[in-house]
Amino acid sequence: MTMYEQGGSALDMVEAGAKVPESDARDMSVGYGGLPDQSGKVSLDACIMDDQMNCGAVCYVQGYAHPISIARAVMEDTDHVMLAGAGAEAFAKKHAFARKRLLTKDAKRALKDWKKHQVSGNNHDTIGVLGLDKSGKIAGACSTSGRAYKLPGRVGDSPIIGAGLYVDGEVGAAAATGMGEHIQTVLGSFVVVEMMRQGKSPDRACAIAVDRVIRAFPHLKEQAAFVAMSREGEYGAHARLPGFKVCIASEEGISIYDANYTEGL
Ligand code: GLY
Repeated sequence: MTMYEQGGSALDMVEAGAKVPESDARDMSVGYGGLPDQSGKVSLDACIMDDQMNCGAVCYVQGYAHPISIARAVMEDTDHVMLAGAGAEAFAKKHAFARKRLLTKDAKRALKDWKKHQVSGNNHDTIGVLGLDKSGKIAGACSTSGRAYKLPGRVGDSPIIGAGLYVDGEVGAAAATGMGEHIQTVLGSFVVVEMMRQGKSPDRACAIAVDRVIRAFPHLKEQAAFVAMSREGEYGAHARLPGFKVCIASEEGISIYDANYTEGL
């Protein structure tokens, strides 16, 4: 909001927003402190997109604090959309991005517990940030450490344009969280934006994307949640399970609410 008030760009705002949980060790599904894969390595995925169809993404990045900023550099400094793994890390090194040991003691302990009991609760939350600046430009960012205890090499929806995030300057923006395999199968964020293009409200568009997930995976009741904002600033959200928190920051103040949800068809 400080950036917004100072006339900052939507792109700067969403990047800065995503960097907050990326730095927060208490958030165990994004950035530093994220839960590792089965081999004990934390790998990060992120993407960013502006109102002009410019986008950048990184996936399977290890040892860097801010994948969202690396994704932005991919967008701005290359003619690629996505860099993966060792290539993304070499790119980050060349651009002098800050390195960071991502595995915290708490995350290490959680992995040990999981290895003993093979039970892990809700473990694949993600940060999706949508921003509209004073000039009316819209942008989005998405960042995650992915599914906890995943197979090494696994990449979910979050860095995939159209799955974890989609922005169209003529329509609006959407981001997703939840089970990446389900969201990427239906290209959920793209669905939300296309539904808004057809005149659906952000709330209704998110509910339609959740329905697509339910139809594709009726028996696998994992979280799949979407948040959306139109280019006019109308926002909405919908989830498959309870507990999807949406935070709204605007000139009226900051509020948090639980999105509506649809558990089954
Ligand atoms: N939605 C985050 C993931 O499944 O990787």
